[in-house]
Amino acid sequence: MMITISCFVLTFYILLLPSSIHVQQLCSSLRPRRVRIDHHDVDTHRDIVVERPIFSWLIDDEKYSCNGTSLRGIHQIAYRLIIVKEVSFYSPIQKSVVIYDSGRVMSSVSTNVLYDGPDLTSDTRYKYSIQYWSSTGAISEPVSGRFRTALSNPKNELTANWIGSRHINMNELRREFYIPQGILSATVFMSGMGYGILYVNGVNVDPSRRFDPGWTTYTQRVLYVSYDIAQHLTAASMNCIGVHLGLGFYTHEQWGGGTPSPAPEVFGPPPRLLLQVNIVLSDHTTMNISSDTTWLGREGAHRKDSVYMGTIYDTRAERYNWSSVGFTDPYSLWLNASTIESPLTSPVGQLTYQSMDPIRISPYALHIATSASRTGYDSMPPGVIGGNIMNSGVFSATPLANQQVPTYDVSQNIAGYCTLTITGRQGMTVSTRHAELLNEPGIDGIKYQGLNAANYQIISASDDFIIQGSPHEVLVPMFTYHGFRYISVYANYINIESVVCAAIHSETTLTGNFTSSSLVLNQIQHNILWSQLSNIMSIITDCSQRQERRGWLGDAALSVDTALFNFDLYGLYVNFLRNIADVQHQDGSIPDTAPYSVGGYVADPSWAHAYPEITWRIYQHYNDTDIVKIHYAGVQAWVDYLTSRARQSGLANFYFAYGDWETPANYPVTNSSLVSAFSYLSDVQTMIILSKILNNQTNIAKYSKLYDQLAIEFHETFYNSTINGYAKGYQTANALALKLPDVVPSNLRASVVKALADNIAANDNHLTTGIIGTAALFPVLSDAGYHDLAVTVATQTTYPSFGFMFNNDVQNATTNWETFHALLKGFGGTDSLNHHMFNSIGAWFYRYLAGVQLNGFNEDLIIRPRLTRLLINVEAEVQTISGPILVSWELHDDDKTVTYDVTVPSSLHSIITFEPIEPMAHCLSIEESGILVWHRSSPLVETTLSGIIWIRPDSMVDNAMSIRVDSGSYHWKVRWH
Ligand SMILES: *[C@@H]1O[C@H](CO)[C@@H](O)[C@H](O)[C@H]1NC(C)=O
Ligand SMILES: *[C@@H]1O[C@H](CO)[C@@H](O)[C@H](O)[C@H]1NC(C)=O
Ligand SMILES: *[C@@H]1O[C@H](CO)[C@@H](O)[C@H](O)[C@H]1NC(C)=O
Repeated sequence: MMITISCFVLTFYILLLPSSIHVQQLCSSLRPRRVRIDHHDVDTHRDIVVERPIFSWLIDDEKYSCNGTSLRGIHQIAYRLIIVKEVSFYSPIQKSVVIYDSGRVMSSVSTNVLYDGPDLTSDTRYKYSIQYWSSTGAISEPVSGRFRTALSNPKNELTANWIGSRHINMNELRREFYIPQGILSATVFMSGMGYGILYVNGVNVDPSRRFDPGWTTYTQRVLYVSYDIAQHLTAASMNCIGVHLGLGFYTHEQWGGGTPSPAPEVFGPPPRLLLQVNIVLSDHTTMNISSDTTWLGREGAHRKDSVYMGTIYDTRAERYNWSSVGFTDPYSLWLNASTIESPLTSPVGQLTYQSMDPIRISPYALHIATSASRTGYDSMPPGVIGGNIMNSGVFSATPLANQQVPTYDVSQNIAGYCTLTITGRQGMTVSTRHAELLNEPGIDGIKYQGLNAANYQIISASDDFIIQGSPHEVLVPMFTYHGFRYISVYANYINIESVVCAAIHSETTLTGNFTSSSLVLNQIQHNILWSQLSNIMSIITDCSQRQERRGWLGDAALSVDTALFNFDLYGLYVNFLRNIADVQHQDGSIPDTAPYSVGGYVADPSWAHAYPEITWRIYQHYNDTDIVKIHYAGVQAWVDYLTSRARQSGLANFYFAYGDWETPANYPVTNSSLVSAFSYLSDVQTMIILSKILNNQTNIAKYSKLYDQLAIEFHETFYNSTINGYAKGYQTANALALKLPDVVPSNLRASVVKALADNIAANDNHLTTGIIGTAALFPVLSDAGYHDLAVTVATQTTYPSFGFMFNNDVQNATTNWETFHALLKGFGGTDSLNHHMFNSIGAWFYRYLAGVQLNGFNEDLIIRPRLTRLLINVEAEVQTISGPILVSWELHDDDKTVTYDVTVPSSLHSIITFEPIEPMAHCLSIEESGILVWHRSSPLVETTLSGIIWIRPDSMVDNAMSIRVDSGSYHWKVRWH
């Protein structure tokens, strides 16, 4: 008997509450939007598994019925949350029990609402219902949906054995079993080391997932994943489960790049599996199927799989029905699996639910929440991309002329792989090679172009297939990914029918959009997005192609703010913070990489800076105080560790490993102790901010005092009065000193700023900064009154600049490079062309060019677009957990008018600052949606208009005007004279 699937019956009582006031909108259509449970968006996730029952939702747009314009100043006044326990998601005959009804909770908060009812039980199905009351008097419809819980105590509840083989490369395992009656629910919990793919009764349960679980310090923490398989099982019948295993990062190869000291643990191979199915039968008894020695395994078609080197795959060894009931195979050696030791060799080792989104294969890896797809967003089926940005991550590769070996261009540098469709004869081989670059033709007698894979260093990035010989055979490399733009296919006497390439990355949603009148800035933004997507692979990797792809903390620290403006990556960064905490020592020290696989133990201060930085940025972008609480002690231990090092050495000799890494070739490098001191002082600042968030008065006082001493020491140590600047006066030194609050004494500030600007001018308006200096340079210039200069530097297209990456003789970059000189004649040559550590400039696009000063949702949202005559317009959109922030501005031809469109999310107030069009200009008038709301000649400030709370000259910025508004959309026309 197949279990019956039916729509669940709504069991909630209809709410009969008086709706007191009635404005003219259609209340019945209001409902909570973009519901998130434990930060999983229900619109893009079919099967939601919850560790922490935290709910967030957006307040709906309410419109006047007469003219369809959106109301302003709307906020939630109350909500109601109901949780119902269910035995089954699918069976119509079941009892649902209301276990929690919050009643009408008077609260304006609709983000990070913690369910505070009775404890949810392990591996259990629930239904939620959320409804809210609006300040307009309207009542939303309730929305409901389902979720299930992860295991509360995996160590005790996952009693299965780890299985595998020490004799053969057992990477395909199967088990048949009988289910005696109907099924109410069936859940798989599994961890395949390094990667595991689940099949039930011949079906791949989730084909876009092939890279689970995520990379962790496997001796200490192994992630498990979960699938709801009730619909795949057959009641009163035999059933079969199969698992394909890959090695992933659970292999010696991950140590190929260095010899860290002390030597980290060495993991795997062989591959191994932990799996348990919990089934609730129709008589409410339970049955379990576990990985044990009754499972049969063999070496499957994968003869070799390696994330770095690629795969060797013999398609002749594929067995189509291997995970179906009744399968027999006289040709392969199937052996009983053996129990094999757990990867968790540490006594404190933990199995943890992989709450972050999995790595997925495009087109299932990216969702879009920006306006390109806003209509219909919530009705989109899970896993489907809206809008057409980014080609859905799937590219038909184009054959290139002038190649000896058939070579194809994806036209975008991606991390992913290609699927080949070919026809050939059985036993022949097809091999692929990949590269980010082509050789230059015609040089040194090179007749054919071919791939230039010098920057892969020791990595082959090759896949080899032995083919079956069936027509239109499809070849897919399974447990590997490559960072590439070009692919060569070696296939003599074989017809290559198509080469289709897919980007792979941790599943995410595009939540930000930045465009401007500058094509250079727009291309930088494009390259930022793709460098980020190529490097979210369960951890934040540094690059996508060579023998690294490791969790280098410095890279993650520099790009996190930009990444969170552009993408919804809550789970990924929360997991990354835990990976960092896992490798922190008792004395507070942290290594350069997490999981620790290469680099120094202890980290360079600018690298471990990731720990405080990511904690704080998650708070800023997600209003999540919990994450601050969880990592506060760890961050403090790291800051205290730095303090003990600095006390021993003084800032003058403060330790470092990398300094201002990747300073452009031909330019001098700033004093590395100054760079380390900058990161240390930044961390002390962050410690003060985090202490304020948690209202820890003792630590606010303690770290403020420490900071004041350090600010003096920094200045006294590094200031050089003969050059009016720091260290030797290079751009990085002055930018970093200016970035730190209160380091540069106020009487010296102007001359240091001028020294920085003069240095830029002396370099023909080019930056000469490495990764640390570049991140500071743009905000510092904009804040110091040199915003035009910042824009000039940002839009340069000659070396060294961002624009040079896509304006040079070799290749127009589609991702950010590792170095500014990667393709400069005579330099680089082995540098990565897909790195995200220079993505830091992207946060300046949002925070300065568009002016969105996102800072945690607990105060007024500051919107202060910086005007420059070098741009005609800027448009930015940020889909936050409170709703959309939209800011666009445009300079008009009359040279006196600036228009702004601004949308403030509901429940927030905002202070919008209009900067003068010229420093000396005075504001003449301000109109909103065509109505004059302020005029210079009128002493009275008009504030009766809907949504506007006050208008006044800005207290900080000369000649600027500031307006405080309620939530809603506004169209401003500001005139200057
Ligand atoms: C739309 O109608 C409302 C209510 O009548 C009014 O207050 C508002 O100004 C109107 N908006 C526009 C743009 O006409
Ligand atoms: C980004 O904004 C531009 C300009 O408004 C728009 O054309 C484009 O469709 C937007 N893209 C996305 C993905 O929202
Ligand atoms: C942010 O979270 C705090 C609680 O930590 C809450 O009071 C506040 O309302 C939240 N802000 C928004 C806009 O949801």
